[in-house]
Amino acid sequence: PRPAIEVTKLGHHLGARIDGVTLRPDLDPRVIEEIRRAVLTHKVVIITGQHHVDDAAQYEFAGLLGTPTKAHPTVLSRGEDLLPLEGAANSWHTDVTFVDRIPKMSVLRAVVQPSYGGATMWASTVAAYAALPAPLRVLADNLRAIHTNDYDYAEHLTVGDSSDPEYRAEFTKTVFRTEHPVVRVHPETGERALTLGHFVSGFAGLKTSESADILRLLQARVERPDNTFRWNWSPGDIAIWDNRSTQHYGVADFGDAYRKVNRVTLAGDIPVGVDG
Ligand code: SIN
Repeated sequence: PRPAIEVTKLGHHLGARIDGVTLRPDLDPRVIEEIRRAVLTHKVVIITGQHHVDDAAQYEFAGLLGTPTKAHPTVLSRGEDLLPLEGAANSWHTDVTFVDRIPKMSVLRAVVQPSYGGATMWASTVAAYAALPAPLRVLADNLRAIHTNDYDYAEHLTVGDSSDPEYRAEFTKTVFRTEHPVVRVHPETGERALTLGHFVSGFAGLKTSESADILRLLQARVERPDNTFRWNWSPGDIAIWDNRSTQHYGVADFGDAYRKVNRVTLAGDIPVGVDG
C-alpha cells in the first residue's frame, strides 16, 4: 500500500501541515517523495511533534531531500553545514541569493523558542508575481537584480545570523555579488517567481535611486499580508520551504529573550529567467 502522509492546507497561497510522519533516517523513499511534492505545492510545510530530532538527525533528514550546502558560504570557521541562527532574521529575504546557485530548499528546526513571539513568516513570490498588473509584469520580466552580502550596503538590516561579533565578522569577510533575473522560472514547477529580498542592492542598468524605488514597489507586492503564512513555533516543529518560490521573515517580537533555530540549506541551481 502507498504510504500516506496527511497534508492540511493552512493558507491560500502557501503553507501546509504534514501529519502522520516520524522523521527517521530510514524513512520510506515514497514518503520522502510525498514530502518533496508537498513542499513544491505548498511552498512551506510544517511537520510537528518531531521531538526526537536533534542537530544530526535534522541534517540527515535534510540530506534525504537534497544535498546540504555550506549554510552560509561566508561562514567558514564553524565548518558546519548546519547554521545556528540566534535572534531573529527580521527582514524579508530568500536564503543566500547572493551566490550563483541559490539553495533550493531550507529545513529549519526550532531549538529554543521564547515564551512568546518568535514566529516565522513566509510569502509566496509566485502569488506576488501572478498578482502584478500587466505593465509591472513586463517591467519585472525585463529586470536583472544584483544580490550581495555586502553588509556595508546591508548594515541597516538585522540579518540576525548571530549576535556574536566574531561570528558576524565572518559574514562580512568575503563579499559575494551576483546577478539574477528578477523573474525566475521555477525549475520543477515552471511557476514564475519574483526573486528579490534583502540581499538585492540594485538592478542592472538603473541608478541607485531608481533601483531603490523599483525594489520598494516590487518587494511591497511580495510582503502583502494576504500573500503570507505565519507559523508560531512549538518545540519539535520542523519547517521545510521552497527557497525558489518564497521569502521569509523571522518576527522579532520577543524582547531580549533567547531564541535559536537551526537551518540546513539544500543545493539549488542557477536561476533561469523568462527568456530561458
Ligand atoms: C531564516 O531567516 O532563515 C530564519 C528565520 C527565522 O529565524 O525565523
